[in-house]
Amino acid sequence: MRIREHPILTFPARRKVTFFFEGRPLEGYEGEPIAAALHAAGIRVLRESPVLGRPRGFFCAVGNCSSCLMVVDGVPNVRVCVEKLREGMRVERQAGKGNLLAAVGGGRASGLDSGAALHGCGGEEGA
Ligand code: FES
Repeated sequence: MRIREHPILTFPARRKVTFFFEGRPLEGYEGEPIAAALHAAGIRVLRESPVLGRPRGFFCAVGNCSSCLMVVDGVPNVRVCVEKLREGMRVERQAGKGNLLAAVGGGRASGLDSGAALHGCGGEEGA
């Protein structure tokens, strides 16, 4: 569902793009937040919380809470509420903290065990 008309806002024409959610092709508008395109397609659960595996979706919608962390083009812990949609993106739900080492080719030197360090987040079980 999308807002098409608004009393004070205008919506400029944007190019439709195809992206892939867990292998399923979906359409969205180039430049809109990935989470907005997923929401418009009826997808509300964006990830599982790291400790208890609870479903998480939009919360702050401004990139501050980490409730929307997903794997985008193989990179974990992407805040999809602020990441812009592009043609051909591959978006997947994230279970737990994500595996940054897998995303960077299994490197060992960084000492990172998850993508949480990449964005300074994670472990927000109470959110
Ligand atoms: S919903 Fe809070 S960071 Fe995306």
